[in-house]
Amino acid sequence: MLNPADHELIQAAIEASRNAYIPYSGYAVGAALLTVDGAVYTGCNVENAGYTPTVCAERTALFKAVSEGQRQFERIAVVTRDGGSPCGVCRQVMFEFSPGMTVLMADLDGKLHLRTTVAELLPHGFGPANLQ
Ligand code: THU
Repeated sequence: MLNPADHELIQAAIEASRNAYIPYSGYAVGAALLTVDGAVYTGCNVENAGYTPTVCAERTALFKAVSEGQRQFERIAVVTRDGGSPCGVCRQVMFEFSPGMTVLMADLDGKLHLRTTVAELLPHGFGPANLQ
């Protein structure tokens, strides 16, 4: 049984995945990011004919939040049809701001596949501390 807060964040990510712009892969991803002060920012993947400009759902949500002044995150829900895992680039961006953040991976039916943390997903990560 999912705790209510996780359930709510996963539902917000499912909702966001409906806006995924995915003419090339057909693989919809939705993300919902909870800040330490309780705000939620959502994102979807946005693909591009040039392929490399494609942005993942997680980074859409993170950059929306950071561009609004948020830098500390508590939890992120990522939803895909198979409960897939965040890519390496998104792990790096999450690590920059909140290595302790909880990461929920769920599918489009709302089933939780994994509950972990950014630090678990990116062990021995390179981050802001390295440049001090
Ligand atoms: N994708 C994400 O949105 N997040 C990830 O962490 C993995 C991959 C997107 C990028 C692309 O639009 C599609 O999924 C297939 O790679």
